[in-house]
Amino acid sequence: MPPAASALATLPGDRNARLAALYEPIRSVVPPADWALFADDVEAILALKRERNAVVLAHNYQTPEIFHGVADIVGDSLALAREAMTVEADVIVLAGVSFMAETAKLMNPSKTVLMPDMEAGCSLAESITPEDVRLLRAAHPGVPIVAYVNTTAAVKAEVDICCTSGNAKRIVESLGVPRVIMLPDQYLARNVAAETGVEIISWAGRCEVHELFTAADVRELRDAYPGVTVLAHPECPPEVVAEADFSGSTAAMTDYVETRRPPRLVLLTECSMSDNVAVRYPDLDFVRPCNLCPHMKRITLANIRRALEENRHVVTIDPAVADRARLSVERMLAL
Ligand code: 13P
Ligand code: SF4
Repeated sequence: MPPAASALATLPGDRNARLAALYEPIRSVVPPADWALFADDVEAILALKRERNAVVLAHNYQTPEIFHGVADIVGDSLALAREAMTVEADVIVLAGVSFMAETAKLMNPSKTVLMPDMEAGCSLAESITPEDVRLLRAAHPGVPIVAYVNTTAAVKAEVDICCTSGNAKRIVESLGVPRVIMLPDQYLARNVAAETGVEIISWAGRCEVHELFTAADVRELRDAYPGVTVLAHPECPPEVVAEADFSGSTAAMTDYVETRRPPRLVLLTECSMSDNVAVRYPDLDFVRPCNLCPHMKRITLANIRRALEENRHVVTIDPAVADRARLSVERMLAL
């Protein structure tokens, strides 16, 4: 394991100046004492990325020191899948959850994809098995099956097409049929059904983060913070989405903030999302009730560094599964 000091030596310029430049944009969301603890890992990761010709892909729910400190590519699930396809570096470190690392490997199979913590799962991905999908297909012959990207590669291999929260409406409409099966998120399915008028047969999965928001929360927020604009992720229950001013993927929320600049707003989603967006808009008043995703929070600077130092944990997918799963993701990206 190379000591941090040797890693620092490979980077040009003065250490303090480099770290100060990285810290400046996030000082409002990362206390100085925390940054002092992070700095060594940040410098080491920047050096290791050069040594190993690696990039870090980070989801919008990663903590600010990862998202703004060491990530090369950031975004929602759709953006990460798309961007993974065109990565030229030898190594991709996925700062996110396991299904995202699997998707990156599917889309760019010749690269080494590293997952800093293999236990970073997802309540949605864990809610359904390939066997469940086969039973659903048998129960509803001829009905196309759309899988949310928050599923394992083995489940993606059993379905007709994937979707993300950023394109679910478009994917369902593109099928041109009155009835589809959409799994595993029952709330996303109901939200898309309401938007499209398509009858959707869903599964009983739920995101353990977004299911906690309630319509009463939205009303209380409006009472407590007059004029607040409420943005809700479509994994929230339909009654929450109905009370919100806007619903969209994490990227769609970011775009909304960029284009509409609501003076006071709340993002009903994972906690780091507000931190990561807020640093770009210091003039906006972000109200901060949020829920932490315990899976996303398993990823830390320390385990990203260790992933690069020790080449762990290498993501592999059974080739028989991978070819069929890739097809489902490619059909989505083709739209
Ligand atoms: P998006 O970033 O695609 O909106 O997904 C949210 C999510 O919960 C990913 O785990
Ligand atoms: Fe899964 Fe929800 Fe966590 Fe996203 S936020 S990884 S959907 S549990």
